[in-house]
Amino acid sequence: MSLTLPNPPKKVDTRLGVMARWFTNTNPGLRRFWHPVAALEALDGSGPFSVRLLGEDWVLFHGTDGWTVIGETCPHRLAPLTEGTVIDGRLECAYHGWCFDDTGTCVTIPALGEAATIPPTAAAAKPFGVSERYGLIWVALDEPVTDIPVLAEWDDERFGKALMAPQTWNASAAQMADNFLDVAHFPFTHLGTIGDPDDREVHPYSVEREDGPESDGPGWRFKAVHKHSSKVFDDATSGATDEFTVFERTMTFVCDGPHHVYLHIAYGDAGDLVLAFYHQPVDDDTTTLYCRILAENIADGRATPDDHIGFQEKVGLEDRTLLETLKTKAVPLDPGTETHTRADRTTVELRRILADVHALGVAAPTGLGGGTAVHSPVAPADISPPAANYAHARLSEGATRSLHTSGVVPIGPDGSVPADLQAQADVIWANIKAMLRDAAMTPTDVVSVTTYVTPGLDLGPIMATRDQALDGNLAASTLVVVPELARPEWLMEIAIVAEAG
Ligand code: FES
Ligand SMILES: [Fe+2]
Repeated sequence: MSLTLPNPPKKVDTRLGVMARWFTNTNPGLRRFWHPVAALEALDGSGPFSVRLLGEDWVLFHGTDGWTVIGETCPHRLAPLTEGTVIDGRLECAYHGWCFDDTGTCVTIPALGEAATIPPTAAAAKPFGVSERYGLIWVALDEPVTDIPVLAEWDDERFGKALMAPQTWNASAAQMADNFLDVAHFPFTHLGTIGDPDDREVHPYSVEREDGPESDGPGWRFKAVHKHSSKVFDDATSGATDEFTVFERTMTFVCDGPHHVYLHIAYGDAGDLVLAFYHQPVDDDTTTLYCRILAENIADGRATPDDHIGFQEKVGLEDRTLLETLKTKAVPLDPGTETHTRADRTTVELRRILADVHALGVAAPTGLGGGTAVHSPVAPADISPPAANYAHARLSEGATRSLHTSGVVPIGPDGSVPADLQAQADVIWANIKAMLRDAAMTPTDVVSVTTYVTPGLDLGPIMATRDQALDGNLAASTLVVVPELARPEWLMEIAIVAEAG
């Protein structure tokens, strides 16, 4: 069998706004996740400190119940509360002295005297949640769909801590996570630190996306394990020599939505090292990185926190120098805009998460889960197991209603292509049509179709089914074939996005 697709288009269609689906640091879906906004060790005093998150201005101060964040604008004459003063855990505005408590409620209006009746509208904005963890202040602007990432080593006495000073990069958080998850750039970007010039090929590695809490689709986390060769200069900290030793190391990545990266590196006798990269999306062009380093060899006295910080700052500078040359700070959500290879499995999975984050932002928050899971899979009939199945469907409802759904054909038990591949693909399309019906949409609402395939399949007949299922809506949708990016247990994934007013 051979690939018989007629000229798959390189670019996705622009007419229905698909090209607008670029993920930026101000994507509204990011309001539903926890973001770090300050490192305790970098704060001097009780504030107020200015905080910019997702392009919005907030103010951080130490209130009566601990650190808190409220809107930066005073409700009286809109003066910036960052100019105010913290007095006994209350933030006093510099203009007319109104005082605000931890929740942003005005509790004193000096001009009205002791017996003042405070107008109910005299309140600064308040984010949904403020929390303190891993020495960082975290904020979720709207009800979050997932918790602050887990960093178990933070409380594990086998690990010593090294806290890198926060750094602000001219890059988006998605680009920075993309970079930290990337396993192909070491022998190029990191020749000055960890990159082994002779270890260029990325060997197959696993990527596992966690299920959602009610198995109604994928969760917000994936894990990848990758082994590669790394190098250590004989004097890694001073850089005074070109001599280095090469050794194998195992890297375990966990990416927590939207774009936090945990990296565990097993260094054998040198002990384990954990790097947690937490990102604060400041505005579209800017991200602040909080890197927490946890190392066994700090706890046992073989290395100092400064050894680790110095080295990671060098590695980070190599990444930053490269990333800041990228002209756009957004990451495209449509796979056809970039060119992916099998070495990019981690960063493709990140894009799947970003697409789901984007879908959340289409709707106003309606409670945990973000969007409605749509369930009405058509029972596969007359096809051999393992049967093609629906993977997930998520409907977000707002000014624009957005449906994101996909179906997969699993690899046969013996690793072969099932003889009834066509029937299996038909089941996916039957399911997609059922999802559209459940979402009160039609095939004409479909704005993108992405097909991930294992190479070597004859897609001609399968695409004929697609054409039929879309009721002639080919002009408004686009097929993007991304070879070799079906997950290891899948032969094919067909994903669609539909949007309706
Ligand atoms: S503007 Fe803040 S108290 Fe008047
Ligand atoms: Fe890097």
